[in-house]
Amino acid sequence: MTTPSKFRNVPKTAQNRLLIKGGKVVNSDTSFYADVYMEDGIIRQVGKDLITPGGAKVLDAKGKLIIPGGIDTHTHMQLPFMGTCAIDDFYQGTKAALAGGTTMIIDHCLPTRGQSLVEAYDQWRAWADPKVCCDYSLHVGITWWSESVQKELSVIAEEKGINSFKMFMAYKDVFMLQDFELYRAFAALKELGALPLVHAENGDIIAENTKKLLELGISGPEGHLQSRPEDVEAEAVNRAICIANQVNSPLYVVHVMSKSAADEISKARRQGKVIFGEPIAAGLGTDGTNYFHHEWLHAAAHVMGPPLRPDPTTPGYLMDLLANNDLQLTGTDHCTFKSEQKAMGKDDFTKIPNGVNGVEDRMSVIWEKGVETGKLDECRFVAVTSTNAAKIFNMYPRKGVIQVGSDADVVIWDPMATRVISKETHHQAVDFNIFEGMECHGVPLTVISNGRVVLEDGELHVSQGAGRFISRPLHAPEAYSRISQREKVNAYKRVDRDGYEGPIHKNTGQP
Ligand code: URP
Ligand code: ZN
Ligand code: ZN
Ligand code: ZN
Repeated sequence: MTTPSKFRNVPKTAQNRLLIKGGKVVNSDTSFYADVYMEDGIIRQVGKDLITPGGAKVLDAKGKLIIPGGIDTHTHMQLPFMGTCAIDDFYQGTKAALAGGTTMIIDHCLPTRGQSLVEAYDQWRAWADPKVCCDYSLHVGITWWSESVQKELSVIAEEKGINSFKMFMAYKDVFMLQDFELYRAFAALKELGALPLVHAENGDIIAENTKKLLELGISGPEGHLQSRPEDVEAEAVNRAICIANQVNSPLYVVHVMSKSAADEISKARRQGKVIFGEPIAAGLGTDGTNYFHHEWLHAAAHVMGPPLRPDPTTPGYLMDLLANNDLQLTGTDHCTFKSEQKAMGKDDFTKIPNGVNGVEDRMSVIWEKGVETGKLDECRFVAVTSTNAAKIFNMYPRKGVIQVGSDADVVIWDPMATRVISKETHHQAVDFNIFEGMECHGVPLTVISNGRVVLEDGELHVSQGAGRFISRPLHAPEAYSRISQREKVNAYKRVDRDGYEGPIHKNTGQP
């Protein structure tokens, strides 16, 4: 039974007052020893020797870190895609998120070609609202272009709480937009103060390469990789940056998977462009050598677009760029298909549903590959797993910080504990885990979602439908504060001059 919405999110009395004692608060800019008191889903006090109302549940955080809950900027729960539907739905997927210390996801509403954006938005809300265990929001896809789509953008942005729209430069004939359509969409979004997101791969080149590979009899998952090499990703990133630059819009590149694509983003940032790059847990934690694995299912389980890169130095390189702010935040692109779904493409890699796991393991994988390696300090860890997402998607300081007035989405993080990732113990519906066997330092000990303890002593206590849809206002300062001034500085110039008075050659009608 679904809980009526007016009763949702009201924490149970025994749990509506929480006091975390003895831990170190870590925000993106500073860390300090303090206790944290929460009531009715909001952080009410942060400090030493707090005077708090009685009856609070006390959580001991001695030797532990108190961090803002993770925000996964990129998921696809129960996405209808490639002839099937992603197996982790909004219940199982958000439950897994909470188990891993992520207290908010931003999923994708992806209309089909010709479908009304508002209709698709309503459909996604109807799927997600009764099922989500943690707070969530949506990016809305611009998967085709027309006057009606352009009109609907303002409805979605101004009335539905959406400030980010996703466009595809790949998936030809399905979701892919042409350059002129990207140009118009970016321009329309700029006018609204919304952020354009791109999946950057050259869909035309992928289609040609795919034909060639299948003709050569390369039909296994290694064909998927070879159909879309690094330069196919880097070219599209460069093109998206160029298009955004023509209309003076900010730009956000989702799932940055390769060194050369990341370099394009670094270069544009050095030129002062307003651009953000999102690597994902998969790309930071494993690599594309898996496509050459002798077991078909193992290789197919790693199929996603853009693919993981076979250059084994890629994950470390992407982490270095995250460390120095060339890349800003992390998602997962969590979009899972179980073995029998992957097997739809057993004779043809183009039919393997694209997508991998990540939502449950992102926090631990980034701690292991980023903090344990000495690349990120604990503040930067918080920045790239939570705060920067809250800022770029305009939810800060409601989300992404431990501060009075912020939502009580809080994790007690044990930096010393370890766990081994496995499909045998994960909470996701999918029957494979791309991080299988990875030992991670950094474990969420206690997870608090909207003021409720949802993970404690290794046990999950989630409730279906408890998460809220989070509206995100337009004109995120992180994306837009520099844009309006640039509009003035870079305005088109016209020269007033005397007219030309000389002879004019007659147009001969030649083509
Ligand atoms: O392979 C992927 N990435 N599947 C999900 C859809 C997308 O492109 O993000
Ligand atoms: Zn994508
Ligand atoms: Zn995606
Ligand atoms: Zn380790």
